[in-house]
Amino acid sequence: MTDPARPVPKACIIGHPVAHSRSPMVHGFWLKELDLPGDYTREDVRPENLARFIASLRERGYVGANVTVPHKEAVLGLAEVASETARAMGAANTLWFENGLLHADNTDVAGFLANLDERAPGWDRRGGTATVLGAGGAARAVVYGLLARGFSTIHLVNRSRERSLALEAAFGPAVTSCGWEGLDRALSETNLLVNTTSLGMAGQPPLVIDLAPLPDTAVVHDIVYIPLTTGLLSAARARGLATVDGLGMLLHQAVPGFAHWFGRMPSVTEDLRAILVRDI
Ligand code: ATR
Repeated sequence: MTDPARPVPKACIIGHPVAHSRSPMVHGFWLKELDLPGDYTREDVRPENLARFIASLRERGYVGANVTVPHKEAVLGLAEVASETARAMGAANTLWFENGLLHADNTDVAGFLANLDERAPGWDRRGGTATVLGAGGAARAVVYGLLARGFSTIHLVNRSRERSLALEAAFGPAVTSCGWEGLDRALSETNLLVNTTSLGMAGQPPLVIDLAPLPDTAVVHDIVYIPLTTGLLSAARARGLATVDGLGMLLHQAVPGFAHWFGRMPSVTEDLRAILVRDI
């Protein structure tokens, strides 16, 4: 039963715009499923108001928050304690108060890894080779996760050479970048292919690549989840390859925040997936 003397814990997602966010659906599902008192709302905060908003987070009754575009980088400088992952990413997506201090973490890395663990058990080959398409914030999280799992070679394929060279410099010799013209060669030795570009997302141009050079045992993962089955995943399935869609990354990255704010570890279940799939 709810104790009337204790305020209901409240968290939110901070972004601009934020109306499209599916995080309230995820946390709302868990609160109901675990029968916990709590609330999770959206807060549309313009960049010029972010510092003030974060400074007043607790006054507004929040025990923490998720942070999305365009605030993930700026919020890192506003937290009092940042995790090693958040510092390595230069961005945070989860905030909570601990011993009176505002903590920040980047749970995209853990979400990416947990999703692959769940959907493609045995995917992470120590000493393996991955090809990552894209060189934005999502690619940074993916590369960091793959290196943590012992991948020894990561081919980064990106349109803007400048951005992939910057990631190469940040991560060291295991990461080598090339333009799209280098894709076939990279694919021929790839155990895991990950698309982190916006190509293939609803409203964006399709991602059209030839998957023929991939070994038959390769896993293909698209972090895009709208639509759930992208052209890349369809092509991979047609070739008989194992595939992983991006929805689980969204669900798994939400787990640590929920545990911090509401005190229970939620599960990513088929029921939760089904609710989001219906909404996509
Ligand atoms: P995120 O933070 O989600 O990774 P981002 O930083 O905007 O988002 O990165 C988007 C990625 O999609 C980039 O790698 C981008 O390539 P550039 O670095 O060359 O911009 C890639 N991308 C977006 N539209 C593209 C297109 N039409 N063709 C090729 N790559 C594209």
